[in-house]
Amino acid sequence: MELSNVAGKVIGLGVCGGIAAYKVVELARELTQAGADVRVVMTPSATEFVGAITFSTLTGNPVRTELFPKEAPSQIPHTDLGRTADLIVIAPATAKTMAKFARGISDDLMSALLLSAKGPIVMAPAMHTEMWENEATQENVQTLKARGVRFVGPDSGPLAGPDVGVGRLTEVTNILAAIDEELGRTEDLTDVRVLVTAGGTQEPIDAVRFIGNRSSGTMGFALAAEAIRRGAKVTLISGPTHLVPPSAAEFVSVATAAEMEQAVMDVASDARVIIMNAAVSDWRPVKNWGEKLKKADGPPTIELEPTQDVLIDLVSRRRDGQVIVGFAAETQELERHALEKVGKKGADLIVGNLVGTEDSGFGVQTNRALLAFRGGEVRELPIMSKRELAGLILDLVKERFL
Ligand code: CTP
Repeated sequence: MELSNVAGKVIGLGVCGGIAAYKVVELARELTQAGADVRVVMTPSATEFVGAITFSTLTGNPVRTELFPKEAPSQIPHTDLGRTADLIVIAPATAKTMAKFARGISDDLMSALLLSAKGPIVMAPAMHTEMWENEATQENVQTLKARGVRFVGPDSGPLAGPDVGVGRLTEVTNILAAIDEELGRTEDLTDVRVLVTAGGTQEPIDAVRFIGNRSSGTMGFALAAEAIRRGAKVTLISGPTHLVPPSAAEFVSVATAAEMEQAVMDVASDARVIIMNAAVSDWRPVKNWGEKLKKADGPPTIELEPTQDVLIDLVSRRRDGQVIVGFAAETQELERHALEKVGKKGADLIVGNLVGTEDSGFGVQTNRALLAFRGGEVRELPIMSKRELAGLILDLVKERFL
């Protein structure tokens, strides 16, 4: 198959213990033939299935299996490959390796490789159906997906022994395609200034109470992390959340819609791409009582006034070449509302997402979304992790507008 982004790249190939390891020999060969510098790390159990010499012969590089190699213990630090590889691919990825990585355990060379990785990570799992479907494994997969790990497979079909079901290593061509796509995505936003807003705002009623919404910030933080991974210079402006901002982002914390407006306007003119993901309050109490209201004084009547629409203000001040993306959080009629908003607000693209369902919306790791472009084009998307959706939004921004 045609691989456009592989030549000259250093690829760390982690081979875990499983019968599917024999298929990964072909993966190593294809990557090497396409011009990649393939450095193989095997777990000791992987060497029970395929000999290290098979990989070293095909790749022309020594294979590492131990954290402390006897021949040169101090020369090759265990974090070297993780730090320098353009991409790490784990195939077959076993339940154990995924579990350790999800929990941050580093007790062998494979886990050290993963924990020290700087570039994208692709995982091609293979295991028995029961192990794949186990709640623990599924939770680990969700955790890793949320952190940006790309999964490819597993497929359904015959497994080791007489079993048939989900858990089969996907075809080598699928793994190659995922590697090529991920490599194409690295650095494709180098030095592009991206402003992302995230979370919800809080409009004070008194010293302890506020009007807010259920936005957790997950989608906006995923967008910021993904943009950073692709080389962008990111400013992340967020309402209160429990999330840890990516260290490479310039982070601005705000509370109210007015603070959000101010913070956005302070940096907007420098940004090439602006993604207004924050759930900004549409109204605020006219009066902030300051001191805590006392129950004995009876329920207050809270008069509300509208806040500024930050997105509309941004569009009205848009500078040449600036790309502006909005979100539309809806509980019903997603397509109609998203199309209405793209017209009304004048953004280039509105990402409509369903909120308030079990698998989409506030505080959930996945989203059901559709894209409404200015001009009326609509693209429906399958359910996916917020991190995957972030990648797709940035792909489209790059393809269509940059
Ligand atoms: N938005 C904004 N400022 C506001 C309200 C919303 O910038 N005061 C932005 C959001 O960041 C989002 C888009 O507008 O990108 C749509 O937000 P949403 O809450 O879905 O829509 P609203 O305009 O508030 O309309 P409605 O509440 O009627 O759905």
